[in-house]
Amino acid sequence: MDDKVKQFQKDFPGVYFIYPTADSIGTYLKSIEYFQAGEHIISLDKPGEGNMNFVIRVITNQRRFILKQARPWVEKYPHIPAPIERNAIESAFYSTISGNALLLKHSPHIIYHDPASFIILMTDLGESSDYLNLYERGKTIEQDQLNSITNYLTQLHKISPAAFPDNWQMRLLNQEHIFKFPFRKDNGFDLNQVQQGLAPVALKYIQNKPLVDRITALGDLYLEHGDVLCHGDFYPGCWLNTTDGLKIIDPEFSFPGFREFDLGMMVGHLIMALQPHESIDQVISAYKEVAPISIELVFQIAGVSILRRILGVAQLPLPLSLHEKEVVMDQAVQWITS
Ligand SMILES: Nc1ncnc2c1ncn2[C@@H]1O[C@H](COP(=O)(O)OP(=O)(O)OP(=O)(O)O)[C@@H](O)[C@H]1O
Ligand SMILES: [Mg+2]
Repeated sequence: MDDKVKQFQKDFPGVYFIYPTADSIGTYLKSIEYFQAGEHIISLDKPGEGNMNFVIRVITNQRRFILKQARPWVEKYPHIPAPIERNAIESAFYSTISGNALLLKHSPHIIYHDPASFIILMTDLGESSDYLNLYERGKTIEQDQLNSITNYLTQLHKISPAAFPDNWQMRLLNQEHIFKFPFRKDNGFDLNQVQQGLAPVALKYIQNKPLVDRITALGDLYLEHGDVLCHGDFYPGCWLNTTDGLKIIDPEFSFPGFREFDLGMMVGHLIMALQPHESIDQVISAYKEVAPISIELVFQIAGVSILRRILGVAQLPLPLSLHEKEVVMDQAVQWITS
């Protein structure tokens, strides 16, 4: 990690590299003249789980907020490079949606954006839990919460992305991990380490050429310039349950895309979380009342979202047996290839 920091300082001279210490963060905040008179840090805290970025809760004697810094690598796996502009994308996303009262209500606000240091300061949403526990057996999401999430999505997709950045580098990264890497025979990722016996099961999908060709075509579609603002990573890890209701965070993969991308990803995750079919039907019906969609495309994206999460590196806490994974993946294949 020391080498990475040295490289960072060489590549970005004069840019603050934030350490999780009151000294480091205090020095930075003073340098941008953010501190008010008499303000100092009381404590620092990890607000929740994350992989990509450096994220910390800062509590001062006067207020509290979240500091998020992007580095040119994945924070948890520093050997994996990651596009540093993701932090500017996140800021652009929140500013683009700020004219919509409903979206605003469900989002943190950017307090300060420092593009030179790849840092954003955000309002603290307080103690919260994401929806990753939905994958646990027997957990079902309440219909009114699902309605709020769907409602957020329909409102988001009303926003024109005409002036929104392409987010090209992050999309290329996502395209690789959603549509390519999991289906490459020689990708070097040992699925038996995830679950004994998963590697031989995976072969059935990886060797299915019509399936892989169709997924490749969907990956090309993902890179096309679309006409709605997509969140880009619309899954339970980005939905927060707070004391002030539902919040949607982490739009670093947002891009001008197509409705079915976000909606399909949402549906795919509800299916992996074994949510009742009626709930999923309800989500799709509610969305359809607001805007036309291709149901086939929704389920194709849902299918790819399922396959990439079971076969790719971005694993979820799925308690499913091998057989259950196979059943859900077979269903995904039907949707993608029919
Ligand atoms: N504004 C906020 N207020 C309160 N908690 C937050 C806020 N932003 C993020 N968190 C918490 O910190 C966690 C990590 O944040 P975030 O998802 O933005 O980081 P990330 O590094 O982009 O994560 P990932 O690797 O999942 O993409 C979130 O899951 C959430 O629990
Ligand atoms: Mg993220």
